[in-house]
Amino acid sequence: MTVSELQKKIMEIKKERDICILAHSYQSHDIVEVADFVGDSYGLSVKAASVAQKTVIMCGVRFMAETVKILSPEKTVILSAPEAGCPMADQIDAEKMRDLKAKNPGYAAVCYVNTTAELKAECDVCVTSSSAVKIIKNMPEKKILFVPDINLGSFVKKQCPDKDFKLMQGGCPRHAAVTKEEAVSQKKAHPNALLLVHPECKGEVADLADYVGSTTGIIDFAKKSDAKEFIIGTENSILQHLEYDCPDKTFYVLSKALICPNMKLTTLPGLYKCCTGEGGEEITLDEDIRLAAKGCIDRMIELEGK
Ligand code: 13P
Ligand code: SF4
Repeated sequence: MTVSELQKKIMEIKKERDICILAHSYQSHDIVEVADFVGDSYGLSVKAASVAQKTVIMCGVRFMAETVKILSPEKTVILSAPEAGCPMADQIDAEKMRDLKAKNPGYAAVCYVNTTAELKAECDVCVTSSSAVKIIKNMPEKKILFVPDINLGSFVKKQCPDKDFKLMQGGCPRHAAVTKEEAVSQKKAHPNALLLVHPECKGEVADLADYVGSTTGIIDFAKKSDAKEFIIGTENSILQHLEYDCPDKTFYVLSKALICPNMKLTTLPGLYKCCTGEGGEEITLDEDIRLAAKGCIDRMIELEGK
């Protein structure tokens, strides 16, 4: 079967079975094309809560499917590739968080959205890469315990000099692998290109960027900008989506290390099986954990609106 034949079957079956397909922007283009919504992890979970369909399939990694379930407990949420985890989300569990909080009394516990539901349930506020600075600035608390991404934490810390930060030594192995030398070399090779970087990259890389922001932020910036060339400092799948959306512009990779193997576990045949009910894994959450994790997300929404 060809890619387009399988895509056609998926489009038919999702209509028949009343399924909504969500694809994170790090998914391959064949999957993005059959999705109802494409975006970042938080944006997708908000969209999912507003759709009429009762079944939602997440093409992404486990914490993203959990975030959908936290906000839409009445829906059946299925992770298309059950083995797709996120090494950053797995760096800290509830027990380690309780221990960190006990060692840092008086600090507000702030977690990145790239964490498990169990971890969010232990924290006061959740942030996304695009909202982190605003939310932490709007928090009345001065002392911030930030987990798990040290690079995002350091990026926020620089912009909130009146706050006292304790950062965990965690992060995304893919984004953290990008070196300053790669950034310097790509800028030299493409002197007219703007460098767009995700804040999960090291500070010394982000310092060289023309724009630092979330996956959605990077995509929007590249689409709206009058510039014609861009070096993309996040997962390399985005390059291909931008090439389709902006055929008049040229995109270069910042680093060949920027490939997330977990995001690549979702395949079109796997998604098809998921639609027929033969594949994927339904996400279930303990109700107490879900409610506590939702409290952490609700506080983010409340602080974002201030
Ligand atoms: P976003 O929240 O920007 O989608 O990022 C998810 C991610 O996994 C980044 O590495
Ligand atoms: Fe996790 Fe990094 Fe992959 Fe994002 S790119 S899902 S943070 S491992």
